[in-house]
Amino acid sequence: MVRKGAILLGVGATVAVGGLGYIAYQFRSNYRSTGISIGEESSYASLKASAPAAAWDDPKVTTDVIAPTDHVQAVLKENAALLDDQDRALVSQLLDLDQAHLFERWPEPGTDDEGKRRMLAQLRMLDASYHGGIAAYVRNARKLLQESRDGINPFEGYVPSVPTGATLDFASPEFMEMEGEGLREAGHAAFVLVAGGLGERLGYSGIKVALPCESATCTPFLGLYIASILALQARAGNGRRLPLAIMTSDDTHGRTLELLRKNNYFGMDEDQITLLKQEKVACLIDNAAHLALEPTDRFSVQTKPHGHGDVHMLLAKSGLAAQWLQSGLKWVCFFQDTNALVFRALLAALGVSARNDFDMNSLAVPRKAREAIGAITRLTRPDGSAPLTINVEYNQLDPLLRSTISKEGDVNDASGYSPFPGNINQLVLKLSSYVPQLAATGGVISEFVNPKYKDSTKTAFKSSTRLECMMQDYPKALPSSAKVGFTTIKQVWASYSPVKNSPADAVAKFKEGNPTHSATTGELDIYKANCLSLAEVAGVALPCPLQTDIFNGISTEVYPRVVLSPAFCPSLSELKAKVAPGSVTLAPDSVLVLDGPDISVRGPLVVRGALVVRAVAGAKVDLGPLTVDNAGWIWEPLEEGEAASEEDRIRGFTVIRKASMELVYDKPGSYIVPAPMQQLSTGETVSVPIAELETGSGRQAGPAPVKEAEVEPTPATQAVERAEEPSAAEVNNAQATEDESPTEDETPADVSVTEGPSAVETAAASRPAAPAVAVASSSCLSAAAKPFVPSSISASLLAAPAATPALPAAPAGSSSKSKSSKRKAKAKAAAAAAGASES
Ligand code: UTP
Repeated sequence: MVRKGAILLGVGATVAVGGLGYIAYQFRSNYRSTGISIGEESSYASLKASAPAAAWDDPKVTTDVIAPTDHVQAVLKENAALLDDQDRALVSQLLDLDQAHLFERWPEPGTDDEGKRRMLAQLRMLDASYHGGIAAYVRNARKLLQESRDGINPFEGYVPSVPTGATLDFASPEFMEMEGEGLREAGHAAFVLVAGGLGERLGYSGIKVALPCESATCTPFLGLYIASILALQARAGNGRRLPLAIMTSDDTHGRTLELLRKNNYFGMDEDQITLLKQEKVACLIDNAAHLALEPTDRFSVQTKPHGHGDVHMLLAKSGLAAQWLQSGLKWVCFFQDTNALVFRALLAALGVSARNDFDMNSLAVPRKAREAIGAITRLTRPDGSAPLTINVEYNQLDPLLRSTISKEGDVNDASGYSPFPGNINQLVLKLSSYVPQLAATGGVISEFVNPKYKDSTKTAFKSSTRLECMMQDYPKALPSSAKVGFTTIKQVWASYSPVKNSPADAVAKFKEGNPTHSATTGELDIYKANCLSLAEVAGVALPCPLQTDIFNGISTEVYPRVVLSPAFCPSLSELKAKVAPGSVTLAPDSVLVLDGPDISVRGPLVVRGALVVRAVAGAKVDLGPLTVDNAGWIWEPLEEGEAASEEDRIRGFTVIRKASMELVYDKPGSYIVPAPMQQLSTGETVSVPIAELETGSGRQAGPAPVKEAEVEPTPATQAVERAEEPSAAEVNNAQATEDESPTEDETPADVSVTEGPSAVETAAASRPAAPAVAVASSSCLSAAAKPFVPSSISASLLAAPAATPALPAAPAGSSSKSKSSKRKAKAKAAAAAAGASES
């Protein structure tokens, strides 16, 4: 996401190609190491062919590069003997760039020689990984630092206006039309995930893409993204494999590879995925761009990430983008590490790109005036020339508007939002213009610097700084004839809920009334988007009122925990086709997981408790009249300081799996659920027994679910109405919670302790002709996901009820069933202090 408060300097500053610079680059490439990794290994030699011309702005340096001079000997003294010719050339160049301080504290030869060699190796790496080398880096830095010191406005002389783009209501006919067009285009798309970020704000100890995107299936973000691409490939690929490139960094590379390997690449072919590792850049200590040494290691240059803009350079240098174009692909879609909703809107954006022939299209959301999110803005010279459509940081837009076209600055229009859309940095680029552009610029896009000065003289920094670049600045390198637009999905919940902030920062944002972009909302917004999608396209009536709860101090509505896997519906139109109108009724705290490309819901399906249906491709599952009534799974708030996994702690809840019905179809065939009887003679149409697995473990091992007394059937389409009294199960559970403190010995709900045949297996054994049904499946959800039903301590088979009984009564606005009233009161008080509910 766009870093807030960044001062963007240097529009187009680094895009300049010089013939002499090109020669120098070729010379220097002889001794460069690659600086990029593809998969695990890669050599520069194999990439050199696609090396672009260097973007040097001072050709003088090239002569200095080539000839080592005596001053190496003068500064390094006897240590100069440690250097080979390539090192000497590089050190000479650094000395010319006034970087002698790097070597001044080198002790005499024989002392710390290993450290000296380590530093030389690092300098070679820094030189190789920056387009144009370390010399270009220092010169670019000096220029940008000077501009920053002089307070130069990068938008000086530009007039802003609202760019051309599409604004779509989620699920509207226009949206569906664009989505349909996008689905066809998806068969010609490559995908790029930028996942090199440190994630400092979130503070998670692992890599962000390994985080479960939701706790019902525990699918990691990376698993979700790959499942989404595979689902599009199955629908639109026509036999073509859709490639995925992942940009990693030293902070994430090894663990990303490990995650992929451990999960068998989440079902993708190994050679379908390319890892591109970005390198960090050197930190700078002052306006003269002196490189910083690590305070604790005189043989190490301090480095920091250069930003996600590196992705263009890596796609150029690796030749990947060019290969994609050659193989007939048309689009490349960029997305970020923790936005689980991105694929909900991406197809519509692809459709908009195709319809408008956009060279670049940014997914956007409505933004309130002055909201802290970059704005997509068209900039032109006063005479209308040199148009540029670009992300403008929120703190730059307002002054720019005031100084040009609007005294009021950035204000909301009649829609209640700023007319300038909010950039969420999920981009669709047209390969036929992207590849030539990469060839011309080497993928180097405009950089900026954001030093924190000690005082107004702007002569000293509080801490070291470095150059950065952002992938959304790509249009700065495009000719003004390029078509750059946006696709705004008006409903933020439909496309954007990233996981970026720590619980402490999230609650602060919540108190300010801002989106928290936390692990809590990242998960809950998946359920919300799924529920609202079902409501929009399948007329599913949602519980009213919804549950409310407080997690990590964030008070929020909680939708039924509905997970619709990408295999089940990669598009909204497919959801519409698969779920009959009004066929599903969900209790406020119900769980519904549908995972499989050939599942459809005829209904009426009533879920109060937890239902998981998983089916492999070719297993055609037709869910007919079925009422699921069990104790379900509870999203239990964690108390401050309560022991829990890190993943749970950053969300503020843990999931207690009390009981669930899980139907797993791991063999192709046609299944009607429930069927009046098995047609064993033909073997063509079969039904599986409805199995109810109960997990009696967990912190609050409650009683077995209590079935409600029989009441008149309620149409499944009717909105769920709550009665005054809690159900018998709720009463029992609440008592269990209040009376029994959880003991250390109790098995955690998420630990699998399966012994002997599961309930489903037992059922299959007693009916030999029934299809094999197993708890494990080869569906597209994460192979590493914890089992939906983690243990089979006790299990029983329940026949599907013939009629649809009324949903269980629940107190209005109820929260988790098993939560103690004390805990609830405490949390409510916290929320009252915190302010309004986040939605
Ligand atoms: P973020 O803005 O979320 O930054 O990056 P971050 O570095 O991951 O997190 P903080 O700022 O330290 O908290 C947006 C996207 O760009 C990627 C991230 O992985 C994320 O997908 N990114 C960011 C890179 O790939 N490389 C970078 O150098 C920075």
